[in-house]
Amino acid sequence: MPLGLKLLFMVVCLAVPALTDWNWASSSDKPVALFEGKDTLLRPVGYREWVFVGSSLGLRYDPAAGGKPAGPELYHNVYINPAAYRTFASTGKFPDGTMMVLELASAETKKEPGLQGSFQKDYVALEASVKDGQRFQDGWAYFSFDEANGKPKAKARPFPSSSCWSCHHQKAATDHVFTQFYPVLRALSAGKH
Ligand code: HEC
Repeated sequence: MPLGLKLLFMVVCLAVPALTDWNWASSSDKPVALFEGKDTLLRPVGYREWVFVGSSLGLRYDPAAGGKPAGPELYHNVYINPAAYRTFASTGKFPDGTMMVLELASAETKKEPGLQGSFQKDYVALEASVKDGQRFQDGWAYFSFDEANGKPKAKARPFPSSSCWSCHHQKAATDHVFTQFYPVLRALSAGKH
């Protein structure tokens, strides 16, 4: 084989697997919920590159509060993994493997002439939900990645269904997800289903 052809052959042999690997690695269809054993979820990473579905300030069901905030109000930021977003967009259903992340941030105001409103200051907590009918008998499971003292955790065990699942089961609009509060997901449902 002439040298030029040999070189070309080598380049193709090296480039094709490298390109396929790269495509696979950058694909957002890889499972995002990574487990240790049956149901210990590893702390989600990279979720700030997922689809941001909505945010709220001080939103919670708290009949005891009588309408008054019980403490400082927190911002809630909610993300969904891109593959689940695409399935929800086309079918109106959350597939197994859906992962949603709820990031909580403190609210801050700044005294500056003419400036109104509050903004997000520090991230204070991270929670996640995963839909997996094989792994969890209730379909969805819920996790928190903070110790009681606020220290971040690398992995978390699912909460019993009475802690989180039951409120999501009763009050969330679409399959345990609070789509009523997420304009991005509501827009998809309004357009198609
Ligand atoms: C009394 C009701 C209630 C309970 C109990 C509850 N949640 Fe939620 N959760 C909500 C509401 C309301 C939202 C809407 C988004 C927001 O907070 O801004 C939400 C949203 C979420 C989301 C974003 C995805 C979604 O399903 O909409 C996650 C993740 C989440 N909660 C995790 C948890 C975890 C973990 C627990 C248990 C430690 C828990 N929740 C307990 C009411 C509840």
